[in-house]
Amino acid sequence: MDKLQIRGGKPLAGRLKVSGAKNSALKILAATLLTEQPVRIDNMPHLNDVTTMIELLGCLGAEVLVDEHLSVEVCAGNVRSLKAPYELVKTMRASFLVMGPLLARFGAAEVSLPGGCAIGARPVDQHLKGFEAMGAEISVDGGYVQGRVRERLRGADIHMEMVTVGGTENLLMAATLADGRTVLRNAAQEPEIIDLAQCLIAMGAKIRGHGTDTIEVEGVEALHGAEYRVMPDRIEAGTYLAAAAATRGAIELIGADAGTMGTVLERLRAAGADVTCGDGCIRLDMHGARPRAVDIDTAPYPGFPTDLQAQFMAMDAVADGEARVTETIFENRFMHVQEMNRLGANIELVNSSTAVVHGVESLRAAPVMATDLRASFSLVLAALVAEGTTVIDRIYHIDRGYETIEEKLSLLGADVARIR
Ligand code: UD1
Repeated sequence: MDKLQIRGGKPLAGRLKVSGAKNSALKILAATLLTEQPVRIDNMPHLNDVTTMIELLGCLGAEVLVDEHLSVEVCAGNVRSLKAPYELVKTMRASFLVMGPLLARFGAAEVSLPGGCAIGARPVDQHLKGFEAMGAEISVDGGYVQGRVRERLRGADIHMEMVTVGGTENLLMAATLADGRTVLRNAAQEPEIIDLAQCLIAMGAKIRGHGTDTIEVEGVEALHGAEYRVMPDRIEAGTYLAAAAATRGAIELIGADAGTMGTVLERLRAAGADVTCGDGCIRLDMHGARPRAVDIDTAPYPGFPTDLQAQFMAMDAVADGEARVTETIFENRFMHVQEMNRLGANIELVNSSTAVVHGVESLRAAPVMATDLRASFSLVLAALVAEGTTVIDRIYHIDRGYETIEEKLSLLGADVARIR
């Protein structure tokens, strides 16, 4: 199993190009199932999760082409199977997002239940209630969700009981081909949802209100092919900015969208970072100073993203002062705390949703283990700061969501190697 070996102590410095957003690319790939015509997707990140989604599309019968610019073209003209098997869904929860498109276009779908994962139970009840409200018959058998629609999904007024990104996206995709008008209330407002909606609109969907808590969709008979460019990854951008701040460095991100990162940039400024934004670029300079501790409260967009909680906690671990970190989205997203403490951090778990981070001057290398995707990078970040050589085991988690991590970090001057 691959490991990352990091010799810490160097400030990150240099320029970096931000990849396309994983959490948008995966949904846009699922959306290609809504049309029989080819959809070309540019700025696709090269990640294991993207490969998993492409494999799933292939197993349903879609043809996928990757060109020399690494753009992906999907043609779902000859879909043969409506079953998303356990082997693919279990490694990546986002696979469940093929359910909406399959139900909407083919009137049937059989998708493995994603089950729990390392960061919590993560049920899909809101997705299923929404499909039922649109007229689908849903049953669960042998770990699979079976969906059937008599003729065509019909538009419905759906109030989601909590803000769910995946639920909003699955129902949004389903609604594009439903008969009549769908209103999604208490919808998630994440930039990735706006990106998905814009791609669907480019495919001929009639959508209004994306980016607000009420999305209205007027169903159409069919969608058509399109070409779409995936938005920049705000989580990757925030991760490298936090790493630069923790190592007292200075970096410039190219191809980033500061407009989607308001709360994140505000927290970095509160930590003492000098942050400036230009056209598609974000610069951060610590001027050699230690970051100040900043409190973090995760919340649905436009609040602070849960996907950056662990990385900012790592920054707080070496900051001046004490910070309180509150996780409100997932019930078990503090597994990195134990590992960070092995590196000499002083983090106290107050309860399952609150941690108090007492900043320490420096961390010390130790063997640690990655636990989930974002938490893994928080260990990388801690290792970049630590004195000595840290080996991080189980980095397959990182490869799911961070493109060419060792190359990107090396470009910024870090001493990083992948070992077996
Ligand atoms: C997406 C992101 C993930 C991010 C999360 C929150 C992708 C591929 N993943 O995950 O990186 O951390 O948004 O920003 O885009 N819930 C229910 N019932 C449901 C659906 C959700 O109870 O039917 C709960 C979940 O357990 C969780 C909360 O709602 O506690 C938010 O989950 P959700 O927004 O759906 O996250 P994902 O879409 O899975």
